[in-house]
Amino acid sequence: MPGIARRDPDLCKFCGICRNNVTCPAGEALSENCIGCGACVLACPGGAIKIVGDRAGRKEISISIDGKSFLVPERISLKNALRYAGIYFPEETEHCGVGGCWRCAVLVDGSPKPSCITSVEEGMVIDTRPEMEPLRVVTGFGPHMVGGVGTPIGIRDYRSPVEVALFTHGCNMRCPQCQNHVMAFTGGMEMKPDEASVLLSNMRRIYRVQRMAFSGGECTLNRRWLIQSIKELKRLNPDEKARIHVDTNGSLLTEDYLDELVSAGMTDAGIDLKGMKLETFRRITGTRDSESAEYYLKNAWHAVEYLIENYPQVFVGIGIPYNQVLISREEILEIGGRIAGIDESVQVCVLDYRPAFRRFMEQPEIVEMKEIKEILDGVGLRNVIAQTSAGHIGPL
Ligand code: SF4
Ligand code: SF4
Ligand code: FES
Repeated sequence: MPGIARRDPDLCKFCGICRNNVTCPAGEALSENCIGCGACVLACPGGAIKIVGDRAGRKEISISIDGKSFLVPERISLKNALRYAGIYFPEETEHCGVGGCWRCAVLVDGSPKPSCITSVEEGMVIDTRPEMEPLRVVTGFGPHMVGGVGTPIGIRDYRSPVEVALFTHGCNMRCPQCQNHVMAFTGGMEMKPDEASVLLSNMRRIYRVQRMAFSGGECTLNRRWLIQSIKELKRLNPDEKARIHVDTNGSLLTEDYLDELVSAGMTDAGIDLKGMKLETFRRITGTRDSESAEYYLKNAWHAVEYLIENYPQVFVGIGIPYNQVLISREEILEIGGRIAGIDESVQVCVLDYRPAFRRFMEQPEIVEMKEIKEILDGVGLRNVIAQTSAGHIGPL
């Protein structure tokens, strides 16, 4: 049974994220009303918050789930109450746990709520299979000069925006060096697919770009939301020049998901390959459970293969994270060899991972990034770019 969130003052960096950014169901993070949902634990850059003990004298309350009555402990999250009642929802691999993805949404007394950050209350009437419009927390909607992993290098001029992007909140990975951690680990105001698509289309017109990107956080969590948003974006932008770019960790991209994305209107995909070996992938992504890690890693690699083989009209870009404390040069060589075996001309961008969120490591020097690029060039890849502190190097 979840206890209460407590902060270790020796680890706290006094950044204020727990108070200002976390969508705490208790109203105020770390207060006595804590329901132990764990959202602040995931968001804290210091790793300073832990759920400890259990609340003394917890009573049972009665709720209704899908027409049946259940007794569950009071002052826990709705998601934990569902688990307590034996209803496992959603799949553990497909959720963020911080109120960002809304994949765990249920109807509570007729209104949609994210079950991970909603407190269970006496008499609640819950519907776990609601026919409701998907929702998702989204921010951003701004111009980008450089774009992402799935942006072709040749169209960037670094003086004018290359695309407009929205950022979906919530992620299924727990990367200790996450470079977008506030959006990956916090909730906020949710949006319907048509609301997000209209805003992104308007941004396209304001900034006079052809490309519209979904990034995050992990945008492929909450599949219904993403597919509906892309379909709506396509409807609003029927011209041939419009490009719809999905920037993803690739971990959930099964073949049927990819088919659905392409048929909805995705034209460009940026996919990260965060390792060849399972232990490297787990180190980079913070995925504790090895079964989930295996599933994620297999999907990401297969997504690249499947898209290149079956959808030549889709532009595919691959991102490879590099920092010597995370991955060896031998493994970079192996990754390069496997990619070259799929397609020697695919765009590959080596990303210079630098200190961020919870992991502190030195940003690789420009010369080191050049050497990593040379390793990848050496296996026959013809389109390798290195991201460095001085901008992109390559492909030539
Ligand atoms: S989020 Fe973590 S590090 Fe930041 S103020 Fe809260 S407890 Fe401290
Ligand atoms: S976010 Fe969740 S775990 Fe953190 S203080 Fe609020 S209720 Fe407690
Ligand atoms: S799992 Fe609840 S919002 Fe993502």
